[in-house]
Amino acid sequence: MSELKKLKRAALFVQKRAKISPKIGLVLGSGLSDALGKLEREQRFSWAKIPNFPQPTVVGHAGEWVFGILEKKSVLISRGRVHFYEGYSMSEIAFPIRVMKLLGIERVILTNAAGAINTDLKVGDLVLIRDHINTIPDNPLRGENIAELGPRFPNLLDAYSARLRALAKEAARDVGLELREGVYIATPGPMYETPAEIEAYKRLGADLVGMSTVPEVIAARHCGLEVLAISVVTNMAAGIGADKLTHEEVLEITKRREHDLAKLLRAIVARFS
Ligand code: HPA
Repeated sequence: MSELKKLKRAALFVQKRAKISPKIGLVLGSGLSDALGKLEREQRFSWAKIPNFPQPTVVGHAGEWVFGILEKKSVLISRGRVHFYEGYSMSEIAFPIRVMKLLGIERVILTNAAGAINTDLKVGDLVLIRDHINTIPDNPLRGENIAELGPRFPNLLDAYSARLRALAKEAARDVGLELREGVYIATPGPMYETPAEIEAYKRLGADLVGMSTVPEVIAARHCGLEVLAISVVTNMAAGIGADKLTHEEVLEITKRREHDLAKLLRAIVARFS
């Protein structure tokens, strides 16, 4: 079956069952999947049930889509995502984003946990991604172009919408939260970086480092979705902070910042037209 057919089949399955048709999508990353709590008119779809959706490779949490009302707006929230380091193909990583597009989503807010390379940032900071550098050795657009979704050679200028970033800053001000801005470098993972890699990334112009988001942004921009992306700084990157990095630390900090992230996301969604 062609990729487009697989996407359409998944979209049709959801469309038939969903009671609302949102234009706003949110992707909640590592440790952030519960951030927004229960929605009004909530309707949940396990990825295990949606045809052709990426399935978990190991026992653990499958992804889930939640439809509902947030700040009086219809939203589709993706709780969890799949990563390159788990062994998923780029088509699998892009799949949920592309189905969002087929469902009529126009804007996506992606969230993640990231390490800070720039020493002006600190643990716990919420950071708008202004631009990215990609070191993941594959991307969802390689291979035959799905022309129905977008062009063969898409632009990544303004990939992280300046308009939405300005709106997010106003929203942060509304709720009294500090919102920083920076360049995110995506690495394939799953190992954290070496201090020498972090030093190199710093010289390349990266402020933040993480193992997700960029493939989704590439897929989203290809099909014309407007993108906003927010990192939660969970640690200073390797060699910058004194400590050894652990996934437990990443999850602990995201848990601690979940409340403020939710406050920010609500304020942003409230400002969306
Ligand atoms: N490196 C890569 N990915 C990450 C980090 C990091 O330091 N922290 C959270 N995700």
